[in-house]
Amino acid sequence: MTESPSDRAIWLRTKLDEANRAYHEFDDPIIDDAEFDTLFNELILLEKHHPELLVDSSPTQRVGGSPSKKFLSLKHSTPMLSLSNVFDPEGFFSFCDRIEQSSANEPVEFIVEPKLDGLAISLMYENSKLVQALTRGDGVTGEDVTENVMTIKAVPRTLTSKAPLNIEVRGEIYFEKDDFESLNARQSKLGQKIFVNSRNAAAGTLRQLDPKITGSRPLTICIYALVNANSIQNITRQSESLKFLRSVGFKTSNDTELATGRASALAVFRDFEKRRDNLPYDIDGVVFKVNDLRLQESLGSVARAPRWATAFKFAPDEEVTRVLAIDVQVGRTGVLTPVARLEPVFVGGATITNATLHNMDEIMRKDVRVQDTVVVRRAGDVIPEVVRVVLSARKPNSLPYQMPTDVPDRARLTRIAQLIHFCSRQAMNIDGLGDKLIQQFVANKLIYDFADIYKLTEADLIALPRLGEKSARNILTAINSSKDTTLPRLIFALGINGVGHATAQSLAEEFASLEDLGQASTIELEEIPDIGPVLAGNIAEWFATPANELLLNNLVEAGLVWPTPVKVKTIKHDVKLTCVITGTFSELPRELLKERLNTKGIRVVSALSKNVDFLVTGTKAGSKLKKAKELGLHIFREGDVRLLLNDEISADQLLKNQQ
Ligand code: IVH
Repeated sequence: MTESPSDRAIWLRTKLDEANRAYHEFDDPIIDDAEFDTLFNELILLEKHHPELLVDSSPTQRVGGSPSKKFLSLKHSTPMLSLSNVFDPEGFFSFCDRIEQSSANEPVEFIVEPKLDGLAISLMYENSKLVQALTRGDGVTGEDVTENVMTIKAVPRTLTSKAPLNIEVRGEIYFEKDDFESLNARQSKLGQKIFVNSRNAAAGTLRQLDPKITGSRPLTICIYALVNANSIQNITRQSESLKFLRSVGFKTSNDTELATGRASALAVFRDFEKRRDNLPYDIDGVVFKVNDLRLQESLGSVARAPRWATAFKFAPDEEVTRVLAIDVQVGRTGVLTPVARLEPVFVGGATITNATLHNMDEIMRKDVRVQDTVVVRRAGDVIPEVVRVVLSARKPNSLPYQMPTDVPDRARLTRIAQLIHFCSRQAMNIDGLGDKLIQQFVANKLIYDFADIYKLTEADLIALPRLGEKSARNILTAINSSKDTTLPRLIFALGINGVGHATAQSLAEEFASLEDLGQASTIELEEIPDIGPVLAGNIAEWFATPANELLLNNLVEAGLVWPTPVKVKTIKHDVKLTCVITGTFSELPRELLKERLNTKGIRVVSALSKNVDFLVTGTKAGSKLKKAKELGLHIFREGDVRLLLNDEISADQLLKNQQ
């Protein structure tokens, strides 16, 4: 029997109310954000299609949690607003469009601030003394947590201004990443609750009934707003507010930036996205605020959020979707790996349709079944995985998954997996030669081993269904350029069981040539850090197999070339240079350029600083070029670097030429 819309609405409302209470009042979430959003969106849609089901008490009609009963509720002097969100450049540009309508279409100056993931607080100072601290609550009334806030060292009890000040400021209370980790370590040692994230830990700590507990945990604060800033002399911009706040003793962010116009603003966002993991605190996005207070005022607010600011959120790395099927894939070592086929879902900045289930143990442990609703995760370049099943949404008639013990044609599938690995981005990087084409090539007996890839002709490719002349030519070009490679890439591409990037890199540095590597004994191999007896055995066996020797000869004959790697250990004494790469390059993909620079003993880092020796810039270089100029760094173009990589000039000479 299917559920009626009205029953479903009641179920969703109850569930969401419970979740809201657990989150806002008890600081102890029972479902995660992604699941909450899915249920919430389902309720919104249901109420839209069945307006008769909409009731005032629905969680869709309220915002956030109502103030908890534990603390005194007090009204805010001015409402504590929230921020609108954007999730992609289009959304951000529409936000800019709306603002530019009020700025006579002039590019707008934004102040860009990290969006701290803690909880908002409003602090009232009278005669320079802290007299009251209120949480945001529902935005109109908040909870009086003054006593607890007084225990936070980073909150000034008295301001350092000459004249007594009566001001209200707003900011975020949070834990820095390290402090959060040590808090959880301590909780675990004491056998107490482990916090799921630093935001909940901050909320839970601030709303402790006993201020001693609050004081015993390392909360900190960052102030990002001065209420009625324009009433203070000489303040006409948000950046000046922050400067003023700092000058009277508040802790403000060290990581704010100014950006004029949407393109620079977007570049700053991208920069934060890259630096996110290296920041000492958690952020879930960045906040863009119109810097000019007069323009802020003329833009005003809508509903609960100002029109002059928005939060540009990072792509969430967890989402909820459904398992359509579970297939078994054959890996390049012949191992069977179960894979969940998913209803497409956008997560971690990409649409995913598959997620790995690792192995049978993992499926059993997580009890993933076909038709299940699951939380999937994709962070950075990591393979998407199923985190867990949303049991509350499981179909009643579902059955546990049974994994087959073998699959037909396993040997051929293993070979295909090896070929796919060989062509992959971090191996030979043959652009355009994806899984489907490789399967077709093997099915049509065009290729058998790695070396056959280099024998493909345009006629071979065009003969395949759905492959035009242009794509055929692009693929051949990609195959051809992949011949110019590096030894670590080639070693990795061979697909030796257990040899990942890092091992391939160490092997290349240690032996410098394929011949020497091929002749290494297991004892010599085991001398390399991180190589144990099993791996050493795999490597030696691979090279001792006659078919593999033939394969390597064929690859060299096909025209594969690579520079002899230099041991980084020995280089360290000679050249000690560090550079940053920015922009796009016409000859080498960035990754390869980076590897080539490494072979010359030049370290490539991502952040510019005074410790960097030079910047390598391609076309479309953005803010990094400007910053490098400001720092007075040497700047090399692609051509200069070509000279360096071809050994026509040394890095030292290149630097001297620019003096
Ligand atoms: S400004 C009227 N600036 O984000 C503007 N908020 O989603 C109100 N937040 O409740 C907020 N970092 O708790 C602002 N640099 C920042 C922020 C920030 C974090 C939080 C704040 C707010 C929530 C809105």
